[in-house]
Amino acid sequence: MNILVTGGAGFIGSNFIIKVLKKNQDKIVNLDLLTYAGNLENLAECEGNSNYRFVKGDIGDSKLVHSIIEEEKIEAIVNFAAESHVDRSIDGPKIFVETNVLGTQNLLQVAKELSVKRFLQVSTDEVYGSLGKDGFFTEQSMIKPNSPYSASKASADHFCRAWYHTFNFPAMITRCSNNYGPYQFPEKLIPLMIANALDDKELPIYGDGKNVRDWLHVDDHCDAIYTVLTDGKPGAVYNIGGNNEMENIQIVELLLEMLGKDKSLIKFVKDRPGHDQRYAIDASLIKQELGWEPSYTFETGIKETVQWYLDNRKWWERVRSGSYQEYYSNMYGSDGRHKTK
Ligand code: NAD
Ligand code: TYD
Repeated sequence: MNILVTGGAGFIGSNFIIKVLKKNQDKIVNLDLLTYAGNLENLAECEGNSNYRFVKGDIGDSKLVHSIIEEEKIEAIVNFAAESHVDRSIDGPKIFVETNVLGTQNLLQVAKELSVKRFLQVSTDEVYGSLGKDGFFTEQSMIKPNSPYSASKASADHFCRAWYHTFNFPAMITRCSNNYGPYQFPEKLIPLMIANALDDKELPIYGDGKNVRDWLHVDDHCDAIYTVLTDGKPGAVYNIGGNNEMENIQIVELLLEMLGKDKSLIKFVKDRPGHDQRYAIDASLIKQELGWEPSYTFETGIKETVQWYLDNRKWWERVRSGSYQEYYSNMYGSDGRHKTK
């Protein structure tokens, strides 16, 4: 297949591209605007591969998207491109609407005009809102986003649904739980805590640290995305998750133990506004219909991931010393202390 991957220089997109180029014969064009979260170094090993091409640009640029789809005879699109960090969406929501909503709508429009055969919108479990102590998100759960980030992702999902129902355009949606693994930008919980611990900086935990997330290794997410791209039903929604719920404090204490660092680095800071309490995914549909199951246990996945950040210290140090530094110092101050503390 000729696949247009958008946002392929980010965390999940770069893992996806590396995996697909290794395993399959597909041709991939990676369209990425290289915002603060886009890092082409992630894809260094793909340079020179004749099945891979990078284009710097915006998913909202209809002329550019049009020309790529035509020139490269694109048959399928996987849309990873997004603003993806909840804290940033609280500080500045507008870009989330521009990229996540208008950008996705633009992709859908051009893809429909040019009769692209498969379209996969990479969405998130956060569109379902927050759970109490019990229960799981299913594909039938109400869409109840609580943050500007999740509201923008939910809106994009609604456009995909509308494109299928109104135009019979073959859009599909995947809604995955929290990912971890190599190349995750060190603003998200796991890489931030690893990098801070290795630098002996404070580890800022929002609120009481008892919020629960359902963690999945990025490689398993990428497998699920490829499975849906090739075998999923047009118009369908598939939840993706690893049945691995953990409180934030449990994760942070585990990381400290693995890194041989002291718990005194933990700093409880002011809670995130509107902080969702718990996410948990029921992934039985994708298992029953498409036979996908995660291959990593959390134990193996987190060991490998910690080792990756230890082995690739230069990678995250470069990220931190670049434009990331600006954000980091705005949010956490130059000494690594959280500004809301
Ligand atoms: P990321 O922030 O690491 O990467 C986003 C990428 O999109 C970057 O390379 C960035 O340069 C690019 N981008 C941003 N705006 C663009 C634009 N206008 N045009 C082209 N490219 C643009 O994000 P991620 O963690 O890899 O997430 C990828 C997708 O998966 C997102 O849509 C996110 O909502 C979804 N998702 C993420 C998680 C998670 O745990 N990280 C879980 C479920 C779903
Ligand atoms: P995050 O990685 O931002 O993902 P999301 O908010 O999309 O789930 O955060 C995961 C959890 O960790 C979430 O409950 C917020 C919490 N958190 C902290 O306690 N401290 C931090 O510095 C960060 C970035 C997150």
